[in-house]
Amino acid sequence: MRNLVLLGVSAVVAALTAVSLAATPAPRPMALWQKVQVLRKAQALMLESTAYQPGSRTVDAYTVDLANPLANEAIRKSRGITKVRRYPNGALLVKENFNGHRRATGVTAMLKLSGYDQADRNWLMAAYTPAGRVLAYGKVPACIACHTVVSKQDFVFAPPPKQLLSLAIWKAFFPKQTIAPAYAQLLRWHPAAVVR
Ligand code: HEC
Repeated sequence: MRNLVLLGVSAVVAALTAVSLAATPAPRPMALWQKVQVLRKAQALMLESTAYQPGSRTVDAYTVDLANPLANEAIRKSRGITKVRRYPNGALLVKENFNGHRRATGVTAMLKLSGYDQADRNWLMAAYTPAGRVLAYGKVPACIACHTVVSKQDFVFAPPPKQLLSLAIWKAFFPKQTIAPAYAQLLRWHPAAVVR
């Protein structure tokens, strides 16, 4: 009898564990795009960022970083982006890109989804045109490869000039592009901000 009860208890525990470990289903690209629009309308800036801060390429000469309340709450509670060790399920961060004339050139987003991509911290990566056409979606290797530079802070960079990519890493990822002059200037002014 006792054994039967124990068996029953362990079956329930096993079932509950299976439910909690199950991956959160990924939203469809358009559903995520809608979430991004909500943040854009609310001008929900990521903590520590400023609107139209300098980006590194001519296609993102200016950037606007957005975050949903779950992501900003994690940053606030940890007292800074560089101190966040893990973002909660549902955290959403967005980078809007603008050219030198502040015309929109693209939107990237990363959404935390429990169990989605355990090898790479469970981020769904997305890139869209300004009109919302999907350019990349899912476990996107190029996005992940660069964002692992800040794996200590769960793949989220602090915005420039707080953290900057080294010229070597930048060139490895964007061999055919020219670095934005303002970003090159930041690298000269803030050598200690380069992430290693
Ligand atoms: C060569 C490196 C590199 C690549 C490749 C890259 N990123 Fe980033 N990303 C950065 C840096 C550096 C920042 C910080 C700049 C800022 O906050 O404006 C950033 C910022 C972001 C942010 C804002 C949150 C944060 O980390 O500050 C999002 C969202 C984002 N990237 C998504 C993507 C997606 C999606 C892709 C792939 C389509 C991608 N990134 C490719 C380097 C990269």
